Amino acid sequence: MNYFHYQDEALLCEEVPVAEIAAQVGTPFYLYSCRTLRHHFRVFDSAFAEVPHIVCFAVKANSNTAILRTFVREGGGVDIVSGGELFRALKAGVDPGKVVYSGVGKRDDEIDDALKAGILMFNVESDQELETINERARKLGARAGVGLRVNPDVDPETHPHISTGLKENKFGINVEASLAAYHRAAALKHLDIKGVSCHIGSQVTKLSPFTDALARLKELVRRLREEGNAVRYLDLGGGLGITYDREAPPHPSEYARAIIDASRDMECTFIFEPGRVIVGNAGILVTRVLYTKGNEGKRFVIVDAGMNDLLRPSLYGSYHQLQPVIRREREKITADVVGPICESGDFLAKGRQIPAFERGELIAVMSAGAYGFSMSSNYNSRPRIPEVLVRDGSCYVIRERETREDLIRGEKIPDFLNT
Ligand code: LLP
Repeated sequence: MNYFHYQDEALLCEEVPVAEIAAQVGTPFYLYSCRTLRHHFRVFDSAFAEVPHIVCFAVKANSNTAILRTFVREGGGVDIVSGGELFRALKAGVDPGKVVYSGVGKRDDEIDDALKAGILMFNVESDQELETINERARKLGARAGVGLRVNPDVDPETHPHISTGLKENKFGINVEASLAAYHRAAALKHLDIKGVSCHIGSQVTKLSPFTDALARLKELVRRLREEGNAVRYLDLGGGLGITYDREAPPHPSEYARAIIDASRDMECTFIFEPGRVIVGNAGILVTRVLYTKGNEGKRFVIVDAGMNDLLRPSLYGSYHQLQPVIRREREKITADVVGPICESGDFLAKGRQIPAFERGELIAVMSAGAYGFSMSSNYNSRPRIPEVLVRDGSCYVIRERETREDLIRGEKIPDFLNT
């Protein structure tokens, strides 16, 4: 469910014609629907209403401070993976008591910043990290809330690049080794053991990987409690998939039902770290056709957005629907839709059946709200594109288009090159 739809032949974001926004801000740009963002957050949050829980939005999926603030206003927390994400989340006004910090490579200065902010817990991924967090907390005279990120060794059956909960992945501590790691943590004076966490992967479209992971965690929690450890939080990570093409992922209410049913009498506060399921279908990328051409019987539609703006198709071969911003009856063609970047891997779609788009026309690249802008770069010295939020019939630029000056900000030509 989202609020991008056609009225007559024009694509609207809520009540606002996308073509009008394009005329105001130029192309390409990211466009988000505030109503969809809120709706998705509320659907997810309310699905767990019967159990204590915190929805900690995964900042990496979409890091814009206005988007983060939208969820903070809904009572959400955040899942961060860097000092930069902590900075953004605090700017957005997040309650530090609802911040969890994941990731295999936390630096000392990042740990210090999180300790000073007073975050809820670090999801710790190695023995050395436990020692380090304990040491940083000692130096700062603080106590660090920790949970161990356990690798449950389940196959999320998703793209290998975004699968994280298998033994061979770099993430987490093996279930078997985690009990010993908890014993070490319990002996460290500046740590408070708060819970257990896991994250099995992203764009997961089945329930069984989640319930399998939960079953393994449940056993661990039972043993930890038997030994007298307080395990208050159970962080089940993110990963619930969305429909890009024909996938039929479980609805958040089915996901919640399965988890609640599988965790009866565990008496813990759940933490979830959803990213994609909240923002993915709440945002689109709007691009303009620059040229069309045919080469050796192949057809190309060349647009003004490239892999630097939306990396997912190039990096994972991901599918994003392409919709005309103004619809009309016309011939269908099979073509590659490509960007202006000097790489053959720069495409938005390959061998796709699409309307015969024409030069100057606007195309909406659907489901681009998650891992779209947040993975964009300046490659080929292309200024990063603006982000626009629609709310109640008005649109707000929540990030301006970068300028050429922004491209060279911080660069310096050393003196020896000036003489
Ligand atoms: N928690 C942790 C610890 C994670 O590593 C991730 C995603 C999430 C939560 C949020 O997962 P989600 O609910 O969004 O599936 N760039 C890739 C996705 C990488 C996901 C990395 N971790 C893509 O564009 O598909």
